[in-house]
Amino acid sequence: MRIDIISVLPELLESPLNHSIMKRAKDKGLLEIHIHHLRQWAVNEYGQVDDYQYGGGAGMVMMPEPLANAIEALSKDVGYDEIIYMTPDGEDFSQGMANQFSMKERLLIICGHYKGIDQRIRDHFVTREVSIGNYVLSGGELAAAVVVDAIGRLLPGVLNNETSALFDSFQDNLLAPPVYTRPADFRGWKVPDILLSGDLKKIEEWRYEQAVQRTTERKPDLLKD
Ligand code: ADE
Repeated sequence: MRIDIISVLPELLESPLNHSIMKRAKDKGLLEIHIHHLRQWAVNEYGQVDDYQYGGGAGMVMMPEPLANAIEALSKDVGYDEIIYMTPDGEDFSQGMANQFSMKERLLIICGHYKGIDQRIRDHFVTREVSIGNYVLSGGELAAAVVVDAIGRLLPGVLNNETSALFDSFQDNLLAPPVYTRPADFRGWKVPDILLSGDLKKIEEWRYEQAVQRTTERKPDLLKD
């Protein structure tokens, strides 16, 4: 899979996407990430990519021309399945959306800054608008890193134990059950006996009951579907 990202602050993306599981995905050749600085498509020698908004009001808007030039240049070389704009007024990101995106071959992600991008780019180029929550970040980069991480770990072969993503929270609309590791008795706080029993069928049942209970208590909305 290939993901291209357009940003005015590529430094913000580099660290999260170059460590741990994302690094492994790249090293194994399963995920290619290309980060592009929007300024290379700036309209003048000052590297301008934003301007005042029509109608007045505080805050700059990202100009259509650099973005359109960037999207067209990259699309010509790559050809994208989705052009995603990270924005707080987008569709809420979810595990389901991560699953969908992980089945695509090529994604382009646009990170906004300031007051956002000119509406005409949203109208004419963007195919999905994605929010990672009801709060405003200073730019789309951290949100893009969240989305890329959630997608990247789902690609077959990225996780050591391939089945483990299948049992993550939110797969099957359930939160994950509690987990424990050694020691079995820590300060008198004991691991549930069932997990030490070796009875795999009973353990599976217990985990399922715990997952349902946790979901009912913490995120009952997930159970509606
Ligand atoms: N850019 C700024 N805030 C954001 C959010 N909550 N989700 C996605 N992109 C954003």
